[in-house]
Amino acid sequence: MIYGKRIVLREFRREDVGPIQRWVGNEEITKYLGFVMFPQSLEETTAFVERQLTKKGAPNEGIFVIALRDDPGMEYIGSVGFHGISWRDRHSELGIVIGREDLLGKGLGAEAIQLALGFAFDFLNMHKVNLTVFDYNERGYRCYAKCGFKEEGRVREQRFYNGRYWDVIIMGITREEFAQSK
Ligand SMILES: CC(C)(COP(=O)(O)OP(=O)(O)OC[C@H]1O[C@@H](n2cnc3c(N)ncnc32)[C@H](O)[C@@H]1OP(=O)(O)O)[C@@H](O)C(=O)NCCC(=O)NCCS
Repeated sequence: MIYGKRIVLREFRREDVGPIQRWVGNEEITKYLGFVMFPQSLEETTAFVERQLTKKGAPNEGIFVIALRDDPGMEYIGSVGFHGISWRDRHSELGIVIGREDLLGKGLGAEAIQLALGFAFDFLNMHKVNLTVFDYNERGYRCYAKCGFKEEGRVREQRFYNGRYWDVIIMGITREEFAQSK
């Protein structure tokens, strides 16, 4: 368990299926994510959570649940984690979602990212953390920039959304940059 000021990063629990199932059907959240394409069934969400509980077959990823610190039940509000971890080159891809529309834009994402970066650099001994964000995700971009991520490049016209193509922006932060930002 990792404690921040307003949030906690914790392990997955079986009861997280419900709150996840609520946001995977919400276009206001999923339009920013690359992996939710077709309506996701309760069975698929359950299978995802079961995989997180056992961590079987996924040695190169790790995901935390984000919960509010003042919520005694520590209900799932989102998740933050690392995918594609290269144990040799010591980099990984950060992914994050806050699944409750009423909690967006309140600084919780930035707090979760800072905690996750601390874990990646100080505990996993990563050298660099990267991410990608769609050009139309202004809130995501601003949040990442605020956390110290630098824009490194753009894959042009890679994402189709709302009738047109948008760039995918690549961002990254090194261990040194993170240490200096503290
Ligand atoms: C991306 C995400 C994790 C960011 O977390 P968050 O708690 O909403 O972000 P923060 O409040 O920490 O920071 C958002 C920044 O964007 C600004 N912002 C908030 N709402 C905005 C909006 N609708 N449009 C543009 N900017 C906005 C805020 O002012 C803030 O910048 P500031 O602190 O410099 O003023 C969260 O919004 C989220 O999960 N969104 C849905 C899914 C998603 O986009 N996932 C990431 C895919 S790459």
